[in-house]
Amino acid sequence: MTNINQSKIKKATKVFNSVFNKYDIMNDLMSLGIHRLWKQRLIEWMNPRKNDHLIDMASGTGDIARLFLKRVKNQGKVTCVDPNKFMIEKGKIKLGDLNNIRWHLSGAEKLPFKDNTFDIYSVSFGVRNFSNTKMAIKEAHRVLKRGGRFICLEFSKVENEMLDKLYKKYSKTIPILGKYIVGDAEPYDYLIKTINEFYDQNTFKKIIEDSGFSNVGYRNISNGIVAIHSAWKI
Ligand SMILES: C[S@@+](CC[C@H](N)C(=O)[O-])C[C@H]1O[C@@H](n2cnc3c(N)ncnc32)[C@H](O)[C@@H]1O
Repeated sequence: MTNINQSKIKKATKVFNSVFNKYDIMNDLMSLGIHRLWKQRLIEWMNPRKNDHLIDMASGTGDIARLFLKRVKNQGKVTCVDPNKFMIEKGKIKLGDLNNIRWHLSGAEKLPFKDNTFDIYSVSFGVRNFSNTKMAIKEAHRVLKRGGRFICLEFSKVENEMLDKLYKKYSKTIPILGKYIVGDAEPYDYLIKTINEFYDQNTFKKIIEDSGFSNVGYRNISNGIVAIHSAWKI
């Protein structure tokens, strides 16, 4: 029996097939450029060392790979993994100047890598698309070396009630922007739906702990609009 939710996979494929061309520009427009700061915060907390091997799951067009390699001054390796070939193709073009990146077409739930392979596993705005979060986090644990680190940036639950109301109002404008820029509102309805349905900070922390990780913690950024979870395989 497989625990992979095929209809969620189909939906995510359809969504990213229709947005891949305008993915980067839409990120900048939707977040008013703030996603760049959030990703920078991820790298700061990750604090990678030279020669680390990162697996960047749901890599999309490779933003995290680039920031990581900049941080380690190109002395490290990245394995970018994403099930969407169009997102990967975009990434290959965007990061064509970097030669220590390998790209793999795969979902997070079952990875084509041996146990204990990577020093760090990152996932940025990808985990809420996984068809089976628990299965994917267990895979993350399996492919990390002992002493390896899991780090995840994702939309989360806003702490302040007033801000939450404003944020929810703002979210309703995103599909309109999508219609205007990409020509289709539906992928952005899906985006908002997956944000609303995703776990709160503490529930997600518990899932990571239950997958075998230790020292699990999180930091809220922008009042919990996004959170970074960090955990260790010991
Ligand atoms: C919002 S994008 C994030 C891209 C990039 N990490 C970033 O922060 O800009 C989400 C990515 O998740 C990928 N994805 C969808 N389903 C997935 C799955 N089951 N396993 C891994 N990645 C998945 C999509 O193809 C897409 O590239």
